[in-house]
Amino acid sequence: DYRFQPYRTGYHFQPPWHWINDPNGPMIYKGIYHLFYQYNPKGAVWGNIVWAHSTSRDLINWFPHPPTIFPSQKSDVNGCWSGSATILPGEKPVILYTGIDPDKKQVQNIAYPKDLSDPYLKEWVKSDKNPLMAPDNVNNINASSFRDPTTAWQGPDNIWRVAIGSKINDLGFAILYKSKDFLNWVKAKRPLHATRHTGMWECVDFYPVATNSQCGLDTSTLGPNVKHVLKISLDDTKHDYYTIGSYNYTTDKYTPDKGLIDGDAGLKYDYGKFYASKTFFDSAKNRRILWGWINESQSVADDIKKGWAGVQAIPRNIYLDGSGKQLVQWPVSELEQLRSSPPVNVFDKRLEAGELHEVTGVTAAQADVEITFEITDISKAEEYRPRWTHAQWLCNTKNASVRGGLGPFGLRVLASSDSQEYTSVFFRVFKKADNKPVVLMCSDQSRSSLNEDNDKTTYGAFVDVDPIKEKLSLRSLIDHSIVESFGGSGRACITARVYPITAIEDKARLYAFNNATEGVTISTLSAWSMKKAQIS
Ligand code: FRU
Repeated sequence: DYRFQPYRTGYHFQPPWHWINDPNGPMIYKGIYHLFYQYNPKGAVWGNIVWAHSTSRDLINWFPHPPTIFPSQKSDVNGCWSGSATILPGEKPVILYTGIDPDKKQVQNIAYPKDLSDPYLKEWVKSDKNPLMAPDNVNNINASSFRDPTTAWQGPDNIWRVAIGSKINDLGFAILYKSKDFLNWVKAKRPLHATRHTGMWECVDFYPVATNSQCGLDTSTLGPNVKHVLKISLDDTKHDYYTIGSYNYTTDKYTPDKGLIDGDAGLKYDYGKFYASKTFFDSAKNRRILWGWINESQSVADDIKKGWAGVQAIPRNIYLDGSGKQLVQWPVSELEQLRSSPPVNVFDKRLEAGELHEVTGVTAAQADVEITFEITDISKAEEYRPRWTHAQWLCNTKNASVRGGLGPFGLRVLASSDSQEYTSVFFRVFKKADNKPVVLMCSDQSRSSLNEDNDKTTYGAFVDVDPIKEKLSLRSLIDHSIVESFGGSGRACITARVYPITAIEDKARLYAFNNATEGVTISTLSAWSMKKAQIS
């Protein structure tokens, strides 16, 4: 039934119907945020791709406009794929995007706003010089592996640079192009960066982060107290990976910091469903904001039945952690305007071994929940084995039903009152031989739905916190079919899609649980019912 829509979101961005994927060209112009995204105007599966467009004043409530970039030239007749916006000097936004040409080749095109005095920038015009960049045979660039231009950055030499994702066999890399006028682009001799055994790099993102503050930086910022982030979306695994490193604009080389793993064993923005993400610098609030696409865990047949597929994650503020070794992400504070006040609170509550504590008085299918645990003693924690380096494997082996000394404890969300369906987001604390703690965060979807057609993969991440020194925190944004979770104050993120059959709407329940053999203390718990955002 088309009208039966228990999985549509209350506050995560999605259009009224049809397929969406990557966020494209996010930016702020004259105080208005723009979100473009890959969209199929004709159905709930990928195809016929255009750039749909919405604008907002707060990143949470959105107003839709007609698609802005759609096939209209030879250089994009077969599709308008992902790309980025750059704000040129004098407040002039431009978009670079991948067009699919008549030979199905991937080429890079430019589009300009038709009327800069229209704050919504509803109409865009394309250059008749398109395509500006096309695959060549010099480096054997395959015409089907040449896409997704980044936001451009300008060096102190005034020359613009842009990176484009590519691969040769399983060598993934970011091709660099340079231009003086943003129209004539010349390929650099060497790529910005390349990594073996990674395959195609989609939606490359490259930007500076401050080492001494949480403020965001304009994409062209260089200099002291600046590091760079290179993010790659790996087509082979469908995850977004990043390294932090140094960028030398004279050689135009990016080098990841020592100790960080480059490639698909490295750090992920999000250890669950989150792909093809892109950041932009919010000059109004001096922050860098991350958008990401949350793809489906349902079968294609179910997507077609419900008439839509894909949502965008809540935009996240992103900055370098104090350790310098990883990024931290946190939902933009504007989201908090949707919290109904006051929250349901729990303070200083002991959760005994095996206890399930129901949090009542909130709309459990559409909520924002923050919980912190206090741990004073890890002597009862299970011993950590050095070979347990794969967090997702560990979460699968020790899922929410496996009792340990310190954990699993956390939130049971989108749960039915008869415990037939539920998703568990939880921590498990281990101790190493030297008595140092290891914190594992898991999102266990194995019991999330009685519908067996769903992908119920369990996700996991290690969280770099010492729970003796600071409280162990978890925040989950629950939105009908989304559970977007932030562990350790945003040092590990896991997003899941779940589709319960009975635990929907007002039948969904919310609990805090402790399935360990020892008790644990909830220091604080605050749960808010969330109002609906204007999303379509
Ligand atoms: C990533 C991606 C991009 C491409 C777009 C097409 O999800 O495959 O590489 O430009 O989607 O819709």
